[in-house]
Amino acid sequence: MLAEPHFTRHAGAWNMLTAAVCMALLGCLQAQELQGHVSVILLGATGDLARKYLWQGLFQLYLEEAGKGHSFRFHGTALTSTKQGQEVIAKVLESLSCPRDTAPGRCTELKAQFQQLSEYRRLKTPEDYLALSKDIEARVQHEGLQEAGRIFYFSVPPFAYAEIARSINSSCRPGPGAWLRVVLEKPFGHDHRSAQQLATELGSFFQEEEMYRVDHYLGKQVVAQILPFRDQNRKALDGLWNRHHVERVEIIMKETVDAEGRTSFYEEYGVIGDVLQNHLTEILMLVAMELPVNVSSSEAVLGHKLQAFWALRGLQRGSAVVGQYQAYRGQVRRELQKPDSFHSLTPTFAGVLVHIDNLRWEGVPFILMSGKALDERVGYVRILFKDQAYCAQSEKRWVPAQSHCLPQQIIFYIGHGELGGPAVLVSRTLFRPSLPSASWKEVEGQPGLRLFGRPLSDYYAYSPVREQDAYSILISHIFHRRKDSFITMENLLASWVFWTPLLDSLAHEVPRLYPGGAENGHLLDFEFSGSHLSFAQPPLEQLVLGPDSAPMPSDFQVLRARYRDSPLISAWPEELIARLAGDIEAAAVQAVRRFGKFHLALSGGSSPVALFQQLAMGHYSFPWAHTHLWLVDERCVPLWDPESNFQGLQAHLLQHVRVPYYNVHPMPVHRRQRLCAEEDQGAQAYAEEISTLVTNSSFDLVLLGMGTDGHTASLFPQSPVGLNGKQLVVLTTSPSSPHRRMSLSLPVINRAHKVAVLVMGRMKREIAMLVSRVGHEPRKWPISGVLPDSGQLVWYMDYDVFLG
Ligand code: BG6
Repeated sequence: MLAEPHFTRHAGAWNMLTAAVCMALLGCLQAQELQGHVSVILLGATGDLARKYLWQGLFQLYLEEAGKGHSFRFHGTALTSTKQGQEVIAKVLESLSCPRDTAPGRCTELKAQFQQLSEYRRLKTPEDYLALSKDIEARVQHEGLQEAGRIFYFSVPPFAYAEIARSINSSCRPGPGAWLRVVLEKPFGHDHRSAQQLATELGSFFQEEEMYRVDHYLGKQVVAQILPFRDQNRKALDGLWNRHHVERVEIIMKETVDAEGRTSFYEEYGVIGDVLQNHLTEILMLVAMELPVNVSSSEAVLGHKLQAFWALRGLQRGSAVVGQYQAYRGQVRRELQKPDSFHSLTPTFAGVLVHIDNLRWEGVPFILMSGKALDERVGYVRILFKDQAYCAQSEKRWVPAQSHCLPQQIIFYIGHGELGGPAVLVSRTLFRPSLPSASWKEVEGQPGLRLFGRPLSDYYAYSPVREQDAYSILISHIFHRRKDSFITMENLLASWVFWTPLLDSLAHEVPRLYPGGAENGHLLDFEFSGSHLSFAQPPLEQLVLGPDSAPMPSDFQVLRARYRDSPLISAWPEELIARLAGDIEAAAVQAVRRFGKFHLALSGGSSPVALFQQLAMGHYSFPWAHTHLWLVDERCVPLWDPESNFQGLQAHLLQHVRVPYYNVHPMPVHRRQRLCAEEDQGAQAYAEEISTLVTNSSFDLVLLGMGTDGHTASLFPQSPVGLNGKQLVVLTTSPSSPHRRMSLSLPVINRAHKVAVLVMGRMKREIAMLVSRVGHEPRKWPISGVLPDSGQLVWYMDYDVFLG
């Protein structure tokens, strides 16, 4: 009885106590459940990227996570002295801003907290790393916390990666139960080999799951929306997202800034390593990959992405155009202390034509383009659909939302440009897209604004409700362990496998000079046909000199002469190939007219690639339906191996023409799961096939090449077989890998009605000179044994070989 009044009297205090205990308890519960202390270590904290984006991203993380159970500390580190570093960081922290919807008071409060939780320290030696680790442990212990994990953000040049990684691994890993995440900024190597090397090196310090490789374009809101957009609009897109409907895809990132101040970086990577290999390739994959059933499964997305990588057609020299803004050379000389005679070949502009050889995209051009010192800053992906309608009404009666004769396109507008921000645009005649309404809103009309040839009102246009910076988004994903916005090692290496051959082939290419900005005029416009891309206009110097001053290919006559007593045709490479392709077509037409079929035996290697492409693209009257294709030689690798000659034929010719499959005769190098085993009798089987199908085993035309050692087909100097005798097909050994080969023999080659030997490039100068003088010595130079019994031999040599 007494207790009640007592209780009643103290009810207020009791309630307060209860609330306080509950709060504390709740705090403890949270602390046990999800919290713990998170240390973020920003390496390179005083650098450009950190000052511009990363500190703001970390602040954003704090704004989102403060009060949700974790405690934080942000350690900015660099090699700079403590005093200097502290000054820089203090300035950066002062400039941080809150999102527009944060109340000013709240912003000031959180900013002050963040400043308090941030520090600068110099991190240089392994001892410094150890000291940092001890400090974190001491703080955690002192404050009665548990350590949740450590994030190391590498905002440092890649040459410093290995050393830092070693120090973290040896002295700064968190204790058991806490996680480690290391965030790495591109560039990850400058070609496939260096990327592989870096991957191996980092792999010796960190697990793959601990590494977050950043491509900040994957954090851009519009880029991150590509897969969800495809997913949420499956119904409308299913029928449209393919080669039957897509005319072409443009993936573009134009910049007005140049590379001043960054030339030491730029000299090593150029625009291809800086932008195309990473940002634009990632976007390409998001557009081109097959859509997984579950787009939020990172494994499924990666798997589909890799499949798309493997379907990319290899790039060749002719797949790209490159340029360099005029001031670049001077900037390099100044910044890197190079002499006046120094000429950089680094491209600051590139346009690349990509093809994807799969059923969805075959034949659709994907144009990737990026450059510095251009006329505007803008980034976008534009999917332009084919115009497949005829409109019966006159154009003046076309209604934008209904007429199917207006351009139809979907644009993922990454940012900047006329629109000034990110947006997704869909032509109204296509469909009304569905986007998550919580995060995307319809763009308000901007009168007079035209995009891609149409007024904005022609599109359904959506922009993010709240614009967010890519780095803030990615930092939040790192914290929440969302790995799907980062680049896996497999993904990275696949991209380098694709780009490295092009970089190699451009290594000695002189980029076209351009003045920069609006003055570039049409100088960088390019056009494409087949797999080939070229500038639409002659270069500036020639424009200045006058259009007639440069020699035109037509100024050079195809030269006819004799070589080893046989006709020689010599020309510039393109003309030579055109001539040879024309001669082969003429032979085919003649053979089909007389005998109903044409037996053509083709060599592998790199020289015939251009010929195959020419035949595939430009010879519409070629009687493919009556042509039998044979291999002159083959490497002893499975036919699907990229090294096999058959693959070259398949990629550059067969898949583009209509040869009945029963007319294609690959060499049987792979029988009973073995490669070129004598006892499998592959050579005999091919010889039988030839005897059965080719009258007198006389091919209508055999195309050969000539190696720098004088080999032809796969008949190498000192070959013990294939130079004479009865065998039509032999197994041989090559001095270079893969060593085992299968080859037509000289006797069967010499039975052909016509033999064409194609020789191209400077590398062949010496051997061409030598072979022009030697007699019939096939043991030393197998090519000298090519002399058709009653057929005709013609040599096709480009000027590089012949005039050298
Ligand atoms: C970086 C490149 O990755 O991307 C820079 O190294 C380029 O050369 C930058 O300027 C462009 O990014 P954003 O976000 O400004 O489009």
